[in-house]
Amino acid sequence: MNVSTLAFDIQVLQTMREQMEKVVYLTDDFSTEPTAKLAQKLAEISPGSINKRVWFAQSGAAAVEGAIKGARLYKYNQVMKEGFAPEAENQSYPYPYKIISRYRSWHGATTAATSVSGDPRRWFQEPFVMPGVFFGPDSYCYRCALGLDRDNCGIACANYIDQMIEFEGGSDKVAAVIVEPIVGSNGIIPPPAE
Ligand SMILES: Cc1ncc(COP(=O)(O)O)c(C=O)c1O
Repeated sequence: MNVSTLAFDIQVLQTMREQMEKVVYLTDDFSTEPTAKLAQKLAEISPGSINKRVWFAQSGAAAVEGAIKGARLYKYNQVMKEGFAPEAENQSYPYPYKIISRYRSWHGATTAATSVSGDPRRWFQEPFVMPGVFFGPDSYCYRCALGLDRDNCGIACANYIDQMIEFEGGSDKVAAVIVEPIVGSNGIIPPPAE
């Protein structure tokens, strides 16, 4: 442990102690001063209008479940707003629901989170995984799934995901793409800068 890590640990412990002296435990149905401040910060630094809501999950898997539901609900609301017309050719039924993920990924141990995980830990659950998930190639230059050389690949792996969105029906069918910016338990794989 180096000095800066130690200082950080002490600061975190101090902050936790100070908070626990005020409120020891509260369910996430209620907000506290720190959660309100964090929500405001997240609203400021995340894309789009600042006028948004933040939902705090209790685990990574729960956050992923919430993100999938949120993406699908967003599409559902869009379809409902435009007027539901299942007979229309470009109308997805019941609404754009597909999720695109990548093979070297782990998104958590709950059903939907495991279903969007490319990791073989999803296999035991098959065929009862959540439907509508499609897997694409990772940004893993050391073992490129497309057999390309990093110096002149033209980020083919990212373009492949673009093509997947198109071939899966574009925004009429696809609700979301989920990626670990830096792949964690499947190998600690940072993507190339591009
Ligand atoms: C990228 C990623 N997402 C989600 C999860 C799930 O998080 P949790 O274990 O808090 O449910 C993990 C856990 O390993 C993870 O590495």
